[in-house]
Order: sequence, then structure tokens, then C-alpha cells
Amino acid sequence: MEIIFSGIQPSGIPTIGNYIGAMKQFVDLQKEYKCYFCIVDQHAITVPQDRIKLREQILQLAALYLAVGIDPEQASIFIQSEVPAHSEAAWIVQCNTPLGELERMTQFKDKSQKQVSVNAGLLTYPPLMVADIILYDTNLVPVGEDQKQHLELTRDFVDRFNSRYAAKNQEILVTPEVKIPEKNSGGRIMSLQEPTKKMSKSDDNAKGFISMLDDPKTIAKKIRSAVTDSSGVIEYNPEEKPGISNLLVIYSSVTDFTIDELVEKYKDSGYGDFKADLAEAVVTWIEPIHERYNHYLHSEELHEILDRGALEAQQKANKTLQKMKNAVGLGRKPKR
Ligand code: TYM
Repeated sequence: MEIIFSGIQPSGIPTIGNYIGAMKQFVDLQKEYKCYFCIVDQHAITVPQDRIKLREQILQLAALYLAVGIDPEQASIFIQSEVPAHSEAAWIVQCNTPLGELERMTQFKDKSQKQVSVNAGLLTYPPLMVADIILYDTNLVPVGEDQKQHLELTRDFVDRFNSRYAAKNQEILVTPEVKIPEKNSGGRIMSLQEPTKKMSKSDDNAKGFISMLDDPKTIAKKIRSAVTDSSGVIEYNPEEKPGISNLLVIYSSVTDFTIDELVEKYKDSGYGDFKADLAEAVVTWIEPIHERYNHYLHSEELHEILDRGALEAQQKANKTLQKMKNAVGLGRKPKR
């Protein structure tokens, strides 16, 4: 069976963008692949975090993974920092990655420009992500569009590592493929307030995103105040009408309607009616998720699932880590 790995940072409550771009794919793909879904808490501390909140958010994300429909009988759900192989492998990755490649990453450039003092962890964030992926012999990584460059770096790293350390025509590490939803299926959900900017859980303006834990009233309010345009025509045209196009993608992602069907359904309606129906559709979809979330959050079951997930992940990751250590010559020759 082919293998999937993906992760989400517990740096805030996931947004509907995280759901549509990533979690929805996780749920759809879990039957066909052996899946590892990670809560990447070590990535979250590349920028300052409140430790009490971070701990809460780790469990909230775990409960949300289950609430949206990830089945712990099929997939391993675990916390990155509970599998030490990730940071050990990340060191080997760093030592085999040119500095220039990391300095050129757009996320590093963006984030480091916004901060006065920049942690080294922000620069070495992508090697940790490479480690996450390669440790599981991952074939496929379902993510949103913003992770594309990180996946290219991962593929380049695997090529470099294999050609440096593997015997001719053999490979130590597996080259992963990336899976990103098409633009009209939510590879990039935009901010409700600035529809040319990506929706982000760390946006200072909470009106820009729908959190997976927002209550129905807040959801309706945020959708009502979403920025659109003055034409009043409901059509999908992301270049010229990014606001309404984004709302169409959200609408079709949480219902069975395609974008074309929605455009037809609302051809004689105004934005007000469309937004009211969209709010209702989002609330109808999210309410059962909230119920399951509340069930899992304070349950013993959640901890059992995370304990089991960490063990399963360790078993797989430690094998690859040992292969990497052997390749570069770390430690003593392992006992047979
Ligand atoms: P993170 O936590 O920022 O986002 C988690 C996932 O959600 C997707 N996503 C979006 N998709 C569509 N529209 C949006 N507005 C939107 N915002 C976020 C992201 O693309 C991602 O798939 N570096 C990663 C976490 C990570 C990871 C990994 C992912 C660490 N190690 C290994 C895959 C494999 C990140 O910051 O995701």
C-alpha cells in the first residue's frame, strides 16, 4: 500500500481553508493509502507561542482531525515532538542542504521580513518538513498550494541524498509526489476581507477567516461581511471577482454542488441571498463536526489514539532514520 504523510501546525485553530485545502483530502484518501497525519508542534515554535495555548491547540487539532472524519483505525495520528526521529533526521537534512536554497524560500523571506529578530528555526523550517516526509517512505503529500515550494525542496533533497549516498541505481529515500486541489476546488482559499490574500489562521483580523471552531452566529456574521465587488453578479472569475469566486469555492466544498451548479442556482439572486444561503450551508456542515469535536476533546480516547499513533510513527520513522545514519556514517555499525 502506498503511503501518505501530511501535517498541520497547531499555531492557531485551523480555518476552513486548512480544512478545504488539506483535511478534506486526508479524509478522502485515507482508505486508499497508509496514512500518517501529524500535528507539527515543532514547526509551530519557529515563531513565538504562548506555551499554555500551544498545548491546548495541539489537543484541539487532534480532536479536529477526528471530528472531520479521520479514522484512527486506518490512519496514524500523532504529535511530531513525540517522535524524536523527526528532529534527528532534520539535522542530517540540514547538513545536506545548501544554505542558499533555504534563504531563497518564499515563506522564509515573507516571514523574516515581517519580524524584527528572526530565529534560526525559521530558516531551518523546511529541512524539518523534509524530515517529516522522508521518514515515512512517503509516496504522496496532500497539501494546499502554499506548500508547493516545500515539496519541491523535498524532492530535490531526496535526489541529492540518493545520488550522494546510495549505491548506483538504488535509493535510500523515496521521492514523494505532491497532491494539491485545483484552484476551483480549494487549493488556495482566500481571506474573506482581502480576497487576494490567502486565508490564514494567524491573520490578525479574525474577520478574514472562518475558524473550524467558530459558532454559527460568528460564521454568519463573517460571511455577511465578506468583501465582494459592486457588480452583483454571481460568477466564478478569480482574477476579476476574487471575493465572490472564493465564496463559491467554499460553498461547493462544503456541499455537493459544483461551482457551475451554484452559478446556475443563483443566476437571478443578489449577493445578500447568496451569502445567507452560504452561511446556512457552512453551519449545517460544521455543526456535526463541532459535536464530534466536543466528544473527543476531553476524552481519554483522544490520548489513547495519540499514544498509539506515536508508537506506530516511531516504528516506521526509526527504520528510515537508521538507514540515513548508516548512509552518512553516524554512530557505530548497528548490531545485526
Ligand atoms: P499549515 O499549518 O500552514 O497548513 C496546513 C495545511 O493547510 C493548507 N492551507 C490551505 N489550503 C488552502 N487554502 C488556504 N488558505 C490554506 N491555508 C493553509 C496548507 O497548504 C497545509 O496543507 N508547513 C506546513 C505543515 C507541515 C507539513 C509537513 C505539511 C509540516 N511538515 C509535512 C505536509 C508535510 C504548514 O505550515 O501548514
